[in-house]
Amino acid sequence: MKELAPSILSADFAKLGEEVNTVSMAGAKYLHIDVMDGYFVPNISLGAPIIKSIRKVSDMIFDVHLMISNPLKYIDDFAKAGADMISFHIESDSDTDKTIAAIKERGIKLGIVVKPNTDIQVVSDYLHIVDYILVMSVEPGFGGQSFMESSLDKVKWLDEQKKKHGYDFIIEIDGGISGDNVDRVSKAGVNLFVMGSAVFGKDNIYETTKMYVERLEELDK
Ligand code: DX5
Ligand code: ZN
Repeated sequence: MKELAPSILSADFAKLGEEVNTVSMAGAKYLHIDVMDGYFVPNISLGAPIIKSIRKVSDMIFDVHLMISNPLKYIDDFAKAGADMISFHIESDSDTDKTIAAIKERGIKLGIVVKPNTDIQVVSDYLHIVDYILVMSVEPGFGGQSFMESSLDKVKWLDEQKKKHGYDFIIEIDGGISGDNVDRVSKAGVNLFVMGSAVFGKDNIYETTKMYVERLEELDK
């Protein structure tokens, strides 16, 4: 699979529902939602109440990326708010096994995220149970940063593990993705492409989303 996940971090929050529906109408099935607590990353974004509000106006697949120090404490809140997928950072303070259990117990797709300077092999023990691995291709915290080429080696390693062991988890990438790198990122093995500023930062969100959705359909052939 090759799918786009527009990231609302770069959306206009004054018309969030409208912009979410625009990317959906343009063909995006996934919506990437960045939660930041000001501790794990030096920025604060949004929490469960906003997710609950947009859940009422959208049936997209909500892909919630928790950039918070204690994800375990909030899994229930995000589950109740309408998350379909939840990823937490392996670098967070929460117990990894307990956090995994909390997400799976609620029937939500489980993702583990790694920051750029984290060795990808730390996820080895979890590859048989995750639904997806999210590779950060920028330091988490802000949209609009430049793509880090070193993330491609992580993607390739994950893709090799899938082939070697027959795992079927999704490889997601987040940070600095645009038309400049989408082809080679796809070739390395990525399935789910987060795009914030490349989609919501544009004047014509509908046309831009549609263009990327079609490009990914081509790359999936
Ligand atoms: C960054 C967030 C990203 C962000 C990506 O910490 O996790 O999801 O929205 O934005 P772009 O695509 O602009 O790099
Ligand atoms: Zn993100």
